[in-house]
Amino acid sequence: MAVAERVEVEPSIADLLAARPALAMHAQDGLCFEGIPLNAIADEFGTPTWVYGAATMRARFKALADSFTAVGLHPHIHYAVKANDHLAVLSVLRAAGAGADVVSLGEFLRAQKAGVPARDIVFSGVGKSQAELTATLTAGIGQINVESAEELTILSGIAASLGKTANIVLRMNPDVDAGTHAKITTGLADNKFGIAAQEIVSLYSHAASLPGINPVGIALHIGSQITSPAPYATAYAKAANMVRALRDAGQTVSTLDLGGGIGIGYYDEPGMPLAAFATMVRNSVGDLGVNLLLEPGRYLVAPAGMLLASVILQKQSGKRFVVLDAAMNDLLRPALYESYHGILPISPVDFQHPASPADVVGPVCETGDTFATDRPLPNLAPGARVALLDAGAYGAVMSSPYNARPRAAAVLLDGGQAHLISPRQTHQDLWAHEIIPG
Ligand code: LLP
Repeated sequence: MAVAERVEVEPSIADLLAARPALAMHAQDGLCFEGIPLNAIADEFGTPTWVYGAATMRARFKALADSFTAVGLHPHIHYAVKANDHLAVLSVLRAAGAGADVVSLGEFLRAQKAGVPARDIVFSGVGKSQAELTATLTAGIGQINVESAEELTILSGIAASLGKTANIVLRMNPDVDAGTHAKITTGLADNKFGIAAQEIVSLYSHAASLPGINPVGIALHIGSQITSPAPYATAYAKAANMVRALRDAGQTVSTLDLGGGIGIGYYDEPGMPLAAFATMVRNSVGDLGVNLLLEPGRYLVAPAGMLLASVILQKQSGKRFVVLDAAMNDLLRPALYESYHGILPISPVDFQHPASPADVVGPVCETGDTFATDRPLPNLAPGARVALLDAGAYGAVMSSPYNARPRAAAVLLDGGQAHLISPRQTHQDLWAHEIIPG
């Protein structure tokens, strides 16, 4: 992601590979992910194709859980479905022990479909519609993260009329700068998210008096792709003070939802140090005697996914352009946030060749359709394949059929096999639900 992540020296192809244990370059088979040659996947399923590794997701889930166990904490991990909502991905994480954090009825229904029970789902978001609140309450949702006094009133009315009780937490806006990209920072007073700290105590006691509402605690989420514990420490200290203030005011507080945002290394840097993060959580909120919740998305799935693409052609016009068959409609992050994604050649021969700067672009009719500028890459002939790394989070979920480009296929590697989990869209699929009047 621009700013916060920019490093001085761009990593070489070898540096990118060395930083990613699930990837290996084999002299015969080329680039392998979780032991499976990516060339074989491209041969079988074509390109562009999303490739997700189940073992990597499980390993990351376990690493996160273990880092907390090591400091004597056992937060419940609610996977943020928005990062990658594929049913197959949800079911891998559910089997590992995850609940779900959702922001829409669609995500709620996906999580349920993948086997997450409603009671293990939390619903965040600044604008939940009445239909969404009604449907999730009826299904028995575990927790609703309320983001305004106005929403609380609406929710109380709906819950009372359904004869249900909504377990709610109030999402506090801690007014902390997460130091990340402006488009994904959420914990500043000016951001649309949450409730100002000074309003929480009175709103909580109001909530306790409302029909159909059971306030159980508070939540906060300060942003995404945060790679240092420091901004969290500031925010969680405020949250701890808030829990104490609520208890001093006679309220019962049993839940603290710590949000998501744990960042990864998109270059060859390590990303959030988990042991330091868990220690910081213990030091800030470990003595409160509350149930802790975490809502990680990116951390669990980003490094577990990549976008496989083929080179359509290389053109030389002033500079060298490598034109791929994948584009901004598939992986939007570079166009939207100027975010960095590592790009690796898949063939062992390409991998050995000397690298020189190239712009890597897609076929879409916009200059923003650029994956990388001046990226050191070898000469890549038409048909050569590349992997765009760390695309397992906010990749496929943010793709669109812009330029009438069918959605890419998706494959899950699991148990030493490649399973097709979404077939490539056909052109007919693109207009299958369109109606010409008359
Ligand atoms: N909880 C809440 C309330 C959130 O708003 C988010 C992300 C998460 C959890 C999960 O955050 P994570 O652990 O994945 O950082 N499209 C952007 C990221 C947007 C994140 C929005 N909220 C990107 O591609 O970087």
